[in-house]
Amino acid sequence: MRVAVLASGRGSNLEALLRHARSGLLEAGVGLLVTDRPGAPCVQVAREGGVPAVVELPPGKDAAAYDEALAAVLLGDAPDLVVLAGFMRILGPRVLGAFPHKIVNVHPSLLPAFKGANAVRSALRHGARVTGCTTHFVTADLDGGPGILQAAVAVRPEDDEDSLRSQIQALEHQVLPRTVQLAAEGRLRVEDGRVHVAPGPSWHGRVEPVAGALYPDGF
Ligand code: GRF
Repeated sequence: MRVAVLASGRGSNLEALLRHARSGLLEAGVGLLVTDRPGAPCVQVAREGGVPAVVELPPGKDAAAYDEALAAVLLGDAPDLVVLAGFMRILGPRVLGAFPHKIVNVHPSLLPAFKGANAVRSALRHGARVTGCTTHFVTADLDGGPGILQAAVAVRPEDDEDSLRSQIQALEHQVLPRTVQLAAEGRLRVEDGRVHVAPGPSWHGRVEPVAGALYPDGF
């Protein structure tokens, strides 16, 4: 399976995908990275990780033109799956329409709690005792598409935004590759707006769990 990754930042989730592919746990290759932030660290991660194509597509003023341009890049690459790994732009109708149930996002909360750009901060502000990460299919409903996998961690009394974010990212670095592997195995089916994960092999016992984390069935 060939994956196109869209990212805007550090690229640690891209790196996790590349690492799991190298180890053989993930049977998918990243064929393309597209970033909206030329020179962002994710570009370096892609180059060092041997991603064959890197496209730096800076945002213009016109959202519709960006949607067209991004759709053209993705359709030209024709990936089996598009993965949003910290892509900070909202996808437009051209891209969404070209890849129905083929775009996955990773979000740093247990959706539907704490949608939006400041999920980790919001969890702390609301005094959440448990949070985590969610992967979901992307639809026009921002952070609202059908959920695929989640994993949870307890919020420790001493946590600040940085420490909680790094706990959650450690989870993301397993849950996102695991989600892509489920897609590669053809085990994800969307019916009536819900994702069904077909039974099959699991990663329990094959990856080192994050201390204290709770993983769902299907991991
Ligand atoms: C991740 O925490 C993800 O949940 C959010 O953006 C962040 C991207 O981090 N959507 P990185 O660029 O993969 O390090």
